[in-house]
Amino acid sequence: MNTPGKLRLGVNIDHVATVRNARGSAYPDPLRAAFLAEEAGADGITAHLREDRRHIRDADIEALMAGLTVPLNFEMAATAEMQAIALRLKPHAICVVPEKREERTTEGGLDVAGDEKRLADFIAPLRTAGCRVSMFIGHDRRQIAASARIGAAVVELHTGAYCDLHHEGRFAERDAELEALRAAATYAHSLGLEVHAGHGLTYDTVGPIAAFPEVMELNIGHFLIAEAIFRGLGPAIAEMRRLMDLARAA
Ligand code: PXP
Repeated sequence: MNTPGKLRLGVNIDHVATVRNARGSAYPDPLRAAFLAEEAGADGITAHLREDRRHIRDADIEALMAGLTVPLNFEMAATAEMQAIALRLKPHAICVVPEKREERTTEGGLDVAGDEKRLADFIAPLRTAGCRVSMFIGHDRRQIAASARIGAAVVELHTGAYCDLHHEGRFAERDAELEALRAAATYAHSLGLEVHAGHGLTYDTVGPIAAFPEVMELNIGHFLIAEAIFRGLGPAIAEMRRLMDLARAA
């Protein structure tokens, strides 16, 4: 399945469910998208069950757990409700994300340093259940150190600001953000954390992140589902995979 050292691609299928829910229809089916993603070379499938169920729903997570042949990365907020669901389903990986009802997407990283005791207690049973727990954080060293202290196996670095700066043409600030992400990846790796990255990545922005040697996995969703409108989901994913491999090899 996953070659050691290979940069993995996790395909986030949340926005297949967004399209479905926009009309209250039964289609498009996120599980069908997940199967296509598997065929196109996804190493894992990522889905975020939000408190408000705006895209992925409980039944989608159940169907993914039952049907996938690649690992599921279950994104969730640090709430008692989500912990109970995760402990029942025991997905391969859990990415703990901050969640605000009014946000359009996950805007920032978790404040692990400011909520250390609660998050340590929160992830302890998930770790005991055998799930690989990841903390979705910004590039702040304090958040990385706190993630290591609470026993997370993985940190996922939030690439949203870097991508926004790129698409706004603010290249000097983008480059500074990229350097901060690079330093964060190195620091996290030095603490023994596995490093993932994601949010907002596109064909234009994936290369420099994929080139960080410490990064083991990218989780990409919105752009791939959008690009699938034009070239189909399989080809959209295959092109992302190609660009990741190209950057990695350079
Ligand atoms: N990683 C995490 C932790 C996320 O919350 C998201 C968005 O759900 C992504 C990656 C993927 O972001 P995008 O959909 O912008 O590619």
